[in-house]
Amino acid sequence: MVSPGERADFVVVANRLPVDRVVHDDGTDEWRTSPGGLVTAMEPVMRDRRGAWVGWPGEAGVSLEPFTTACGLHLFPVTLDARDIRDYYEGFSNGTLWPIYHDVISEPAFHRSWWAAYRTVNERFAQATADVAADGATVWVQDYQLQLVPALLRELRPDLRIGWFNHIPFPPVELFAQLPWRTAVLRGLLGADFVGFQRSADARNFLRACRMVLGASSRGSVVTWQGSQDGLLGHAPRTVRAAPIPISIDFSALESLAMSAEVTERAEAIRASLGNPRTVLLGVDRLDYTKGIRHRLRAVSELLADGAIDPREVAVVQVASPSRERVEAYRRLRSQVEAMVGRINGEYSDIGQTPVYYLHQAYPREEMAAMYQAADVMLVTPLRDGMNLVCKEYVTCRHDLGGALVLSEFAGASQELTSAYGCNPHDIVGLKRSILTALHDEPSARRRRMRAMRRRVRTHDVYAWADSYLQALAVAPEQPEP
Ligand code: F6P
Repeated sequence: MVSPGERADFVVVANRLPVDRVVHDDGTDEWRTSPGGLVTAMEPVMRDRRGAWVGWPGEAGVSLEPFTTACGLHLFPVTLDARDIRDYYEGFSNGTLWPIYHDVISEPAFHRSWWAAYRTVNERFAQATADVAADGATVWVQDYQLQLVPALLRELRPDLRIGWFNHIPFPPVELFAQLPWRTAVLRGLLGADFVGFQRSADARNFLRACRMVLGASSRGSVVTWQGSQDGLLGHAPRTVRAAPIPISIDFSALESLAMSAEVTERAEAIRASLGNPRTVLLGVDRLDYTKGIRHRLRAVSELLADGAIDPREVAVVQVASPSRERVEAYRRLRSQVEAMVGRINGEYSDIGQTPVYYLHQAYPREEMAAMYQAADVMLVTPLRDGMNLVCKEYVTCRHDLGGALVLSEFAGASQELTSAYGCNPHDIVGLKRSILTALHDEPSARRRRMRAMRRRVRTHDVYAWADSYLQALAVAPEQPEP
């Protein structure tokens, strides 16, 4: 890996650095690597290739010199002040792009000041990357917060090989076209040599947007844009390939954790704390309106009302980790979810017996692995989700082939985990039916489904994802003459 001061042959650029600040009892602090799929997959590549990571440390106004973490990751921090966070992160990224890219489930807001901040912060990321990348380096830009970086970086450093990967869906052009800055966003992305998506539908949506918004032409997975004379962002002709490369998790590390005696014991203790109910249903999500938490609770509430599940025999655990708490749509969702949980529990609880356990917090991996093992049915019901890694984590932890997965057809993962009990979360009757089928299916059928899903995640883990992506980037198409 590269040291601060040196230049890197391989650079990951992401909105967040993979670290959290830990404050010790004596008041001193340190930055610790936060466990996550992306950093896990990147670590071996970073080690082999003199790698570096450019990103925001996650706190307002924190300005840090480049540093190396205890586990040897070389980090190049980008500072965001409170205003950048308001306008670029909470505003344009999560108040404009996030709802448009998720089927307009919540109404997007369009503010020119947010767009200006998005552009300025993308410029800052591009400059930081240009400063750290060695001649001819490979740069891998992540996600919707940094869609202008490929073209901005190419203007600064035409020698680089640049890839971009979208962790969230790419919307149909009919929705994308609402964005007043749609042309600039596509021109930003076309600065890359290769753009990767979660599903083939996302890649197709992107190619179609390039044709319809920019007037580009496409053949198979390759788009060619003739450029423009206007001298604005990304004006030179470009040929770019777009393809699906679905992200995954570190199967073997999580499976080993789930097999440990501590996790197995903890899973039993969790069930005991819940009163050893006959059935445990589990939901694990960031508290986000795309996750379908309200639809899920509605289905649970109706199943209780119908008498299809007995409040004395069932425990529903909903982990809802806090997320983007200053964005209005997220605050509204929290009140709605909490009101629903309160209503269900008010109606169906008794002394010492509560149907819904609502946990508004994030948990360490060990505790999550134990919860997955304790759950008879996992409910993953997003209205739209780029991938959803929770369902991949669940099947990975079920090395006993126990449990059952109810999975929304609107999660990217449904393209891979085709043996799940599928559902359309908007169809409450169908969702209830899927939950009951998952609960009452023959054990042999449940095991068969679980085995097939585990095979898929085992063979398509996060390392395979990173390898496939970097191979695709390495053979990206020749560029036309300007
Ligand atoms: O799924 C998109 C994503 O940006 C992830 O990369 C990230 O883990 C998650 O959403 C939460 O995002 P934030 O950085 O806004 O907390």
